[in-house]
Amino acid sequence: MRVFIIGVSGAIGGLLAQELLDRGDLVSGLVRREQQRADLAARGVETRVGDLASLSADDLASLLTGMDAVVYTAGSNAGARDVTVAIDGEGVVTALDAASLAGVRRLVLVSVLPEAGRGQNLSADEEFYFAVKKLVDVTVSMSELDWVILRPSLLTDDPATGTVALGPAQPHDEIPRADVAATLAEILHEPRISRQILELTQGATPIAQAVRAARPARQGDGPDSGNEDRPHRKVELA
Ligand SMILES: NC(=O)c1ccc[n+]([C@@H]2O[C@H](COP(=O)([O-])OP(=O)(O)OC[C@H]3O[C@@H](n4cnc5c(N)ncnc54)[C@H](OP(=O)(O)O)[C@@H]3O)[C@@H](O)[C@H]2O)c1
Repeated sequence: MRVFIIGVSGAIGGLLAQELLDRGDLVSGLVRREQQRADLAARGVETRVGDLASLSADDLASLLTGMDAVVYTAGSNAGARDVTVAIDGEGVVTALDAASLAGVRRLVLVSVLPEAGRGQNLSADEEFYFAVKKLVDVTVSMSELDWVILRPSLLTDDPATGTVALGPAQPHDEIPRADVAATLAEILHEPRISRQILELTQGATPIAQAVRAARPARQGDGPDSGNEDRPHRKVELA
């Protein structure tokens, strides 16, 4: 599989690149600086230099031609508003348009749990960031592409656990970036995960099993459909 990662120089992007390379996939991506190109080339990742804030959809489409999937994991992480608009907002729209122009059907977006930070006296810029992230999820979910939106809870740099909780709704908690990257790689290799918003946090289900269980059930699915992996956990509200 050929995967283009927007945000490949970032923490999740770098971990995802390694996950995919370990599976034998071809990985390329967008970076902002020449030095990043050299570092990533040494790891087997081909990169193109460009700034999301100024790339047109046509420019980006020319980099996406021939890819099987695009992953968008670039983000401002709640910085200044103009950067949030450019990277968490308009950049995603540019990537959607570019994927369509390049004929790349599959786009996986790393988003955020909308209730993250609730009750923590967020700054106005942070509130703005969460609002932009949500509106972009709406935009992606209305696109004609084969999209997937993954919303991880608070990211940590703890070591991978190999287990997660994944589904249409998960409580906000925290999760190692390494487990997010492994889940993204698994989703990319599971084409039946399509046009879905999935929330992700730390949990006890092995990642491959969690992704299998997140597939939509189809009529006639046999006993190995993954449905048997769906957790039937009672949620304690108090
Ligand atoms: N922090 C959390 O707890 C949390 C929780 C849930 C979801 N998220 C989301 O998870 C995603 C990835 O997180 P992360 O920890 O991997 O972030 P990260 O390490 O800060 O990586 C961000 C990536 O975006 C790239 N980028 C930023 N501005 C760009 C521009 N103008 N042009 C091209 N690339 C640009 C960065 O490139 P450079 O290397 O050049 O800076 C970097 O590759 C973000 O979208 C974030 O919103 C975060």
